[in-house]
Amino acid sequence: MSFCRPIDTHGRPIILVGMMGSGKTTVGKELSRLSGLPLLDMDSIIEEQIGKSIPEIFRDSGEAHFRALETALLRYLEESPSAPREPTVISTGGGVVLSAVNRRILRRIGFVVWLDVDADVVIERTIRSTNRPLLNTENPRAVIGNLIEKRNPLYADVCHLRIATSHMGVLDVVNVVHQAAAEFFSQSEHQSS
Ligand code: S3P
Repeated sequence: MSFCRPIDTHGRPIILVGMMGSGKTTVGKELSRLSGLPLLDMDSIIEEQIGKSIPEIFRDSGEAHFRALETALLRYLEESPSAPREPTVISTGGGVVLSAVNRRILRRIGFVVWLDVDADVVIERTIRSTNRPLLNTENPRAVIGNLIEKRNPLYADVCHLRIATSHMGVLDVVNVVHQAAAEFFSQSEHQSS
């Protein structure tokens, strides 16, 4: 399967936000494959830039440093003349919404989609994960519950579209995102012309 009509995003990205385990990377990869838009995974870019894995960055420099790297990357994507200008799918890290600066940049640069999943699904998908330093604790269930409670209002604040994905397959999510993005970008084109 592939989408017949290429989506015209006017050079702007489709941005996926949501909790760890919400499917941002999986949906991002599939959306990228079917739409032909390149995937830009923020965590992977930061790992490449720094030459360390996310757990190593947290261990060596702390969470605050990682958050600063996220903001620096978003500023680069928004402002740098050498930043990629072709339309992309951007998969973010789950905590990118913690910063109000990040939330403002995300909304300015693209179409922001919140993949909203239930705590049970997050727990099921992340419980055995070893590459998520925030869950490397005695009681990851409680941590996940707290993170969801704290972050859901922030995802709601930043998003243009919320999709409750707990009971949806990946392709269904991809289809909804694709269709909604096409509408969003065609409307914003009319508004700016
Ligand atoms: C984080 C989520 C991770 C990664 C880092 C912090 C978070 O990305 O950025 O471990 O604060 O929720 P994923 O959401 O892709 O797991």
